[in-house]
Formats: sequence, C-alpha cells, structure tokens
Amino acid sequence: MRTTRQDPASAPVAMVSGATRGIGLAIARELLAHGWRVSAGCRTLPHAGVDAQAEQWLACPFDAARPETETAWVQATRSHFGRIDAIVHNAGVLSRQSVLQASSEDFDALFEVNVKSPMRLTQLVWADLLAAPQGKVLIMASLAGKRVRSADASLYAMSKFAVLALAHGLRHCGAGTRVRATAICPGFVATDMASGVDADLHAQLTQPEDVARLARVALELPPTASVAEIPVSWSIESQF
Ligand SMILES: NC(=O)c1ccc[n+]([C@@H]2O[C@H](COP(=O)([O-])OP(=O)(O)OC[C@H]3O[C@@H](n4cnc5c(N)ncnc54)[C@H](OP(=O)(O)O)[C@@H]3O)[C@@H](O)[C@H]2O)c1
Repeated sequence: MRTTRQDPASAPVAMVSGATRGIGLAIARELLAHGWRVSAGCRTLPHAGVDAQAEQWLACPFDAARPETETAWVQATRSHFGRIDAIVHNAGVLSRQSVLQASSEDFDALFEVNVKSPMRLTQLVWADLLAAPQGKVLIMASLAGKRVRSADASLYAMSKFAVLALAHGLRHCGAGTRVRATAICPGFVATDMASGVDADLHAQLTQPEDVARLARVALELPPTASVAEIPVSWSIESQF
C-alpha cells in the first residue's frame, strides 16, 4: 500500500516513457503526488512540467526508435534509484494511414515505437520487476486495440492490437511470480494526439488525469488482483 507519507528512500520506482506531455506527464505527476519515485524517458530534454526533487525524479533521454537509449535509460534508473518496481509503456505515435496505403517502412516505423520498444524495454527490466515486492508492467494500449472503426485508423489499430497482445503475453510470463501486467485501453483522451477531434468536444473527452488515476490503481494493486485490461471510453459505445 503506497501513501504520500512514504519514506522517499524506500518508495517504489516507476519508469514512464513519453512523460513529456499528455497522458505520460499526467501519470508521472499522479505517481509523484502519491509517493512514487519516477524515472521519465523523454525524447525531448530538458523536461519541463514536473516540480520534484532529484531523490524522487529522474529525466533520461529515451527515443523508442533508438534501442541504445533504452539500455542507457534502464541503467541510469538502476544507478539513480537502485530498484525498478514498474514500467509504464506510454510513448506512442498515431498514424492515419489505412492498411492499404501503408508502406513497409511506415509499418516498421509505427511498430518500432508502439510495439517493439515496449517489448525490448520489458525484457531489459524483467529481472528488476521479479526482484521487486510487486513488479508491474502497464501498457497504454487503446480502444483502437479492441475494435477497428475506420480504414484510416487501421494501421494504428494493428499496432494497438499487437501491443495489447504484448500485455497479455507478459501477463502469462508473470504466472507463478509477483509480476503483473495490465493494458489500459482508452478511447479519445484530450491530448495533442486527439487534435483531430473537434475542439468543442475536448472538454467531454476522457482527461489525461482520469487515465493517470486508473494507471496508479493498476500499479498499486497487489498481485492477488490481476487486471488484464481497463477499457475506458469518453462516449457510450455498444461494448465500451
Ligand atoms: N490521446 C488519445 O486519444 C489516446 C487514446 C488511446 C491511447 N492513447 C495512447 O496513449 C499514449 C500517450 O498518448 P498521448 O495522448 O499522451 O499522446 P501525445 O500527447 O501525442 O504524447 C505522446 C508522447 O509520446 C512520446 N513519444 C512519441 N514518439 C516517441 C519516441 N519515438 N520515443 C520516445 N517518446 C516518444 C512523445 O514525446 P515528444 O514530446 O518528444 O514528442 C510524448 O511524450 C500513446 O501510446 C497513445 O497511443 C492515446
């Protein structure tokens, strides 16, 4: 059980990718406000938007398209904090290409960031998660990983179906251990990524802070409460 009064030196440590803005920044703030220590993987440095001391916060260069930055980020987190309790795979990119338009290069570029980097990073930290009291992998998937609503969302949806499968695969890898994996599957969230949604609707969309609260709950649940997926929608769909 985490509390805001936890001794910072013994607080759990979460790596959060794409914490420069949007959902990732909201998750970093939510965790810091509730006693976690956070290692932020940021493509763009210096990082702004978080007011935290060095014992609670580390910002590291991380580009999901450059695997060498993944190794450096993990090593920097270990040497700064001495432990890794959770990894939040949040960094992601949108594509508006249909599966008929996309070139092989388009596919590779999208899957590199949305799918392959989360898999590689989890492999790098798996031993740390096993050593933690209750290791966690949290994957920011999407409702686009649950259903395909249009042709121009179809390449992005393929990547989110794949990363949802990664979450389920990792969930099975954690069987017999205290490591658990969860995928959060939001619909539209009011961030830069939803800039295609009519601006008048943004106040009605799921807010990044809402997703951050769900993320913290998933990260703080004990291994006796394994949550495979959390679908969350701003609107009422037939199933979500
Ligand atoms: N917003 C939505 O409607 C929505 C819905 C469902 C799921 N999601 C998912 O939620 C996650 C966060 O999305 P968001 O809405 O917060 O998007 P956002 O506001 O566009 O932020 C995306 C974040 O990912 C980072 N990023 C992108 N490419 C990267 C790379 N190659 N290496 C490292 N970091 C990279 C960005 O870093 P920079 O600042 O350096 O660009 C930024 O921090 C994504 O995985 C997205 O697919 C979003």
